[in-house]
Amino acid sequence: MTSYKELGLVNTKEMFAKAVKGGYAIPAFNFNTMEQMQAIVQAAVETKSPVIMQVSKGARKYANPTILRYMAEGAVAYAKELGCANPQIVLHLDHGDSFETCKSCIETGFSSVMIDGSHLPYEENVALTKKVVDFAHQYDVTVEAELGVLAGVEDEVSAAESHYTKPEEVIDFSTRTGCDSLAISIGTSHGAYKFKPEQCTRDPKTGKLVPPPLAFDILHKIEEKLPGFPIVLHGSSSVPQDEVDTINKFGGKLPDAVGIPEEQLREAAKSAVCKINIDSDSRLAMTAAIRQHFAEHPDHFDPRQYLTPARDNMKKMYIHKIMNVLGSNDKL
Ligand code: G3H
Ligand code: 13P
Ligand code: ZN
Repeated sequence: MTSYKELGLVNTKEMFAKAVKGGYAIPAFNFNTMEQMQAIVQAAVETKSPVIMQVSKGARKYANPTILRYMAEGAVAYAKELGCANPQIVLHLDHGDSFETCKSCIETGFSSVMIDGSHLPYEENVALTKKVVDFAHQYDVTVEAELGVLAGVEDEVSAAESHYTKPEEVIDFSTRTGCDSLAISIGTSHGAYKFKPEQCTRDPKTGKLVPPPLAFDILHKIEEKLPGFPIVLHGSSSVPQDEVDTINKFGGKLPDAVGIPEEQLREAAKSAVCKINIDSDSRLAMTAAIRQHFAEHPDHFDPRQYLTPARDNMKKMYIHKIMNVLGSNDKL
């Protein structure tokens, strides 16, 4: 058993309490590679922000669980080396699919886990979440649960709405499971294609898609039921059009990619939403920089040549999110 405390990590308890009170949100950036991890740490240190570094089950397999444990320890040491005396870094399992996966993560240095029972019938979600909470809390590891299903691009417009979190369930769910935070569904979704073109309108000037607004009425009802309780938003990439345009200009093919407008995330961050998940924007920033680099330097084949601008572009994006969208800067 490796406790996250030995690695210098923290759980989400204190940072969420401060974020809810302070009207800002903690960035939860997914990572798979060393360059993403370096960019996340550099951005967090330079902006003096707490940060959640999260890995999906697939990312954990890609990186290898043993290497991840050392990467997390390395992230804390790197933050200190960059001049941050007291880094607040969480290693979080994103979309944990079973008790066994959560247990394994807790035993290998994670300070926070998500158990995603959102696809299960309500009572099964309650039972599975409670089982993970009971185990995790023995080790002071915090647990995120999910209620409501995020829309996928495959959903029909009408089906997308029917999966929103039901405010009337949140008190019962959080009380019976003892979860530390709750991911909700109010219209965000995963990936770079969050809405079908027919769900959007088009900006007459640019021809770009304008997505429908998030269901803030549901968020506010949930906040009324659970005052001060930490709420999480998944699927919160903005899919920046300049990155999409760069990708498309240099040989990519991402037609009609669309994300959540940043002003809506800014509004959410001021509410009880205290963790905002961003993965796709990092993938886009990395891919755009690499595509451009290869197009401009067809003779390059040393990975450091194209991964350096990729890392710099991700760092720029992380800093932008922290300072201009989530407001978690200057909180250390
Ligand atoms: O919500 C999912 C995250 O974007 C992680 O995606 O399973 O492809 O690593 P992944
Ligand atoms: P995006 O695909 O919008 O970046 O969402 C990431 C996420 O929710 C990870 O859990
Ligand atoms: Zn997610």
